[in-house]
Amino acid sequence: MNDSQFHNKNILITGGLGFVGANLAIRLVELGAQVTLVDSLIPEYGGNVFNVEPVKERVTVNVADVRDEFSMDYLVRGRDYLFNLAGQTSHLDSMRDPYKDLDINCRAQLSILEACRKHNPQIKIVFASTRQIYGKPDYLPVDEKHVLHPTDVNGINKMAGEWYHILYNNVYGVRAVSLRLTNTYGPRMRVKDARQTFLGIWVKRVLDGQPIEIWGDGQQIRDFNYVDDVVEAMLLAAASEEANGQIYNLGSDEIINLQDLGEKLVRLNGSGDCNVIPFPPDRKAIDIGDYYSDFSLIRSKLGWAPRVDLEEGLVRTLEYYRKFQEYYW
Ligand SMILES: NC(=O)c1ccc[n+]([C@@H]2O[C@H](COP(=O)([O-])OP(=O)(O)OC[C@H]3O[C@@H](n4cnc5c(N)ncnc54)[C@H](O)[C@@H]3O)[C@@H](O)[C@H]2O)c1
Repeated sequence: MNDSQFHNKNILITGGLGFVGANLAIRLVELGAQVTLVDSLIPEYGGNVFNVEPVKERVTVNVADVRDEFSMDYLVRGRDYLFNLAGQTSHLDSMRDPYKDLDINCRAQLSILEACRKHNPQIKIVFASTRQIYGKPDYLPVDEKHVLHPTDVNGINKMAGEWYHILYNNVYGVRAVSLRLTNTYGPRMRVKDARQTFLGIWVKRVLDGQPIEIWGDGQQIRDFNYVDDVVEAMLLAAASEEANGQIYNLGSDEIINLQDLGEKLVRLNGSGDCNVIPFPPDRKAIDIGDYYSDFSLIRSKLGWAPRVDLEEGLVRTLEYYRKFQEYYW
């Protein structure tokens, strides 16, 4: 990717005040892009105005809901790129309120695509999908050919959201690519609770001097991406014409079980404790067991691989929240 690719480009990021969206916005501003963020700032989600503090004078923020078709019809016009990241991310919330998850992660995605088809068919879209759509893996590492059998409502709606993008690419030529993110962490993630990622609440608890709760037996394997690496993958996918209509897993070669991860976080923090406790039953019912990705497709096609290892990423994350606690607790 050529760094000037985004210079002076007109870019819309849905979910732009959220964790990944804000980190992406900061990077795009550095690259000279004109960036508009759409975010509904629903309190249970990851949107936080402080997330864009470093660029607040250089981005346009539009507090709107992607479920509002009239707003989206207007907002997609004239954009070169759309990074479509707005989403309800909590798996448990999707079980408690399945219709809300359906409206945001599925129906609104279709109306965003309709808005693009009608008002800006030249736009290029990058959609933030999730490894959750694979459900409990049949084999590891999970590649893109793995059957999709989500374990929760969120997974089903994200799967539909993803496939609408691929369909609009294939049928209408509205260029779109989907990235299936794995556990992403880093500065600007939600740490108040585990709605976005359990690692968020772990970071808060170690910094508060409270024990981390690890559910199950602690042996579940996961892979993690530091947010800067995810941002880089999004930029590569946006810049590549070869990526149109494609779906790529993100992932990491560094896999770790949750107990070791908890102990690593405690060690890097310099203090803390981990308690392994039984799964709450509502979590157990939708748990996916072990997961890690095969991301060789994006590595070979777009040249992407994560650059920030877990230790370095966790150090940077702890440092960020030590400094800016008051905006996130
Ligand atoms: N963080 C991860 O580990 C991870 C993993 C897999 C997939 N993803 C996907 O990446 C995307 C970004 O996730 P994130 O981790 O930054 O979460 P996040 O909650 O921080 O960001 C999502 C943003 O979307 C906004 N939003 C939600 N509903 C909206 C609506 N109806 N209208 C407008 N804005 C709305 C929220 O306010 C929030 O700011 C999501 O689509 C998520 O499914 C994230």
